[in-house]
Amino acid sequence: MRIVLVGPPGAGKGTQATRLAEKLSVPHISTGDLFRANISQQTELGKLAKTYIDAGNLVPDEVTIAMAKDRMEQPDAENGFLLDGFPRNVSQAEALDELLVTEGITLDAVLDLEAPEEEVVKRIAGRRICRNDSAHVFHVTYKAPAKEGVCDVCGGELYQRGDDSEETVRKRLEVYHTKTEPIIDYYKAQDLVVTIAATGAVDEVTGRALEALKRGR
Ligand code: AP5
Ligand code: ZN
Repeated sequence: MRIVLVGPPGAGKGTQATRLAEKLSVPHISTGDLFRANISQQTELGKLAKTYIDAGNLVPDEVTIAMAKDRMEQPDAENGFLLDGFPRNVSQAEALDELLVTEGITLDAVLDLEAPEEEVVKRIAGRRICRNDSAHVFHVTYKAPAKEGVCDVCGGELYQRGDDSEETVRKRLEVYHTKTEPIIDYYKAQDLVVTIAATGAVDEVTGRALEALKRGR
């Protein structure tokens, strides 16, 4: 299956993508995670991306599209993928369409995760991530690790993302509404959008997502 996940920051895209990717046997491709890996390895791309990410802005299309394309062309993505955080504006959606046409493939669905703004702000404020593996995600209240600051899965150190400060989150939400939300209409025109509520327990949301994908749009 080839799926695009869309939703505001903190809606649970990363959390659900990890679980859905495993259930659907496709790789989870997160442009945010790819940028953060580049930042921690201090690559040129990482240095460039950091200035935009820290301010809550989008990284320029040129580098983002090239990075996403490169990842989608890896052998593990040959039979499907779950895109998390890409495309993030209409020009990225158009670039993805071009790539799909070139490869002779199509998307199966665009899964739109809906969550109220107060909820996503709470989720982001309490989020803690493992330094060893970005898929090990916790929350100080909703999914607290057994020992504060320590990953339950691998014992790694938990940290708070630099762009998770309240001020940057507000900026990211504004960018989401102005730049990213228009891709929902773009994909509605292709009859690809499946919308689900991203509230409730993590398991419930996964169940809802799998049901919705099975049912189709
Ligand atoms: P990115 O990393 O994609 O961040 P985002 O879209 O802002 O989304 P988040 O990672 O903040 O949230 P999420 O929806 O994945 O939530 P999560 O599952 O962690 O992008 C970061 C930056 O990179 C962008 O601002 C931009 O600068 C740049 N960038 C990335 N892609 C780009 C692109 N294509 N073009 C240009 N720039 C790009 O959950 C959040 C918390 O809530 C966690 O603590 C979790 O445990 C908890 N939680 C999850 N689900 C539930 C639940 N059901 N109940 C209770 N708690 C829950
Ligand atoms: Zn860990």
